[in-house]
Amino acid sequence: MKEALKQIEQNAVAELERCGDLKELENLRVRFLGKKGELTAILKQMGQLSPEERPVVGQLANEVRADIEAELEKRIGELKRAEEEARIKAERIDVTMPGKAVKLGQKHPLTKVLDEIKEIFLGMGFSVAEGPEVEYDYYNFEALNIPKNHPARDTQDTFYINDNIVLRTQTSPVQVRTMEKQKPPIRVISPGRVYRSDAVDATHSPLFHQIEGLVVDKGITMADLKGTLEVFVKKLYGEEAQVRFRPHHFPFTEPSAELDFMCFACHGEGCRLCKGEGWIEILGCGMVHPKVLRECGIDPEVYSGFAFGMGLERIVMRRYNIDDLRLFYENDLRFLSQF
Ligand code: DAH
Repeated sequence: MKEALKQIEQNAVAELERCGDLKELENLRVRFLGKKGELTAILKQMGQLSPEERPVVGQLANEVRADIEAELEKRIGELKRAEEEARIKAERIDVTMPGKAVKLGQKHPLTKVLDEIKEIFLGMGFSVAEGPEVEYDYYNFEALNIPKNHPARDTQDTFYINDNIVLRTQTSPVQVRTMEKQKPPIRVISPGRVYRSDAVDATHSPLFHQIEGLVVDKGITMADLKGTLEVFVKKLYGEEAQVRFRPHHFPFTEPSAELDFMCFACHGEGCRLCKGEGWIEILGCGMVHPKVLRECGIDPEVYSGFAFGMGLERIVMRRYNIDDLRLFYENDLRFLSQF
C-alpha cells in the first residue's frame, strides 16, 4: 500500500509538471485527489490493514496529499503568471506604429453648391426664408393662382396627407408665407426639399430640392429680374456664361420666362450634354402675378415684384458632370468623397 501511495505521488508530480493548461490541471486534481480519485481509492482499502499499520499508512497518505496539493498550487501559480505575461505581451502598444488617420466628413455636393448659391444671393442683399415641407394645399397651389382642377396640378402630383394638406411640390409657397408676414421691401431666397409622386430614375426623384427667390418693392421691373438673375448665373458658372430668357407660362407670374445659359461644352452649337439645344434651362421666373400680390395683402397698384425658382439637383449635376441623380441619395462614400 505504501508503494502504491508513493507511486501515486510520483505519477501525480510528473503529470503536473508536464501539464501546461489550467483546465488540464483541474482534471488532474480530480483524478488524483477527488472523491473518486486514485488517492481516495487507496484510502478505502485502509480497513484491510492491521491496527499498527493504519496510522503509519494514514500519515503517509496525508503527506502524499499535501505534497500533491503543494505541487498543484505551484503549477497553478506558474501557469497563471505565464498566461498573464502572454496577455500583456499581446496587448503591448507599439508607440512607433503609424496612427490610424481620422477621416473627416465633408459637405454633401448638394449642400456645397447650395451654400455657394446662398452666398451669391446674400451678397446681393437677400435673406434666407424657410417654410414647411408639409404644406396646406392653399399655400402650395390656391394662393399661387393654381385653383383645384387647374391643369398645372397635373405635372405636380404629390403625396396627400388629406384633401387640404400635401407634401409641397415646390418652394413657391414660401413666397406667399413671406408676403403674408412681411411688408415690402422683400428680398428673400428659400431653399428646401420638395416632393412629387415621380418614379425614381436617372433624372427623377420623389424628393428633390428647389431654391425659390422673391423680390417685392415699389418700381420693380423685368429689368431687375434680368439683371439679378444674370449676375447670379455669371457668379455661379463664371463671367463668360451667356444667358437667354425664353417666354414661358407659370400661373403665379405674368409675364413668365425660363432662363437658359449657353452650353459650356459646345458653346451653343448643340451637343450631347445640352441634347442638341445649345442651351440649358436653369430656372423659371417672372413678374409676380397681381392676383398673388393681392391674395397676400399687397397692393399691386403700389408694389411689384419678381420671383424665380430653380432645381438644385440639376445645377449640381451640371456643375460636376454627374449623370445620375440617384447618386445624391445613396450615401456611397466612394461617390461623396469626390467633392
Ligand atoms: N415653382 C416652379 C416649379 O416648380 C418654379 C418657378 C417658376 C418658381 C417661376 C417661381 C417662378 O418663383 O416665378 O416649376
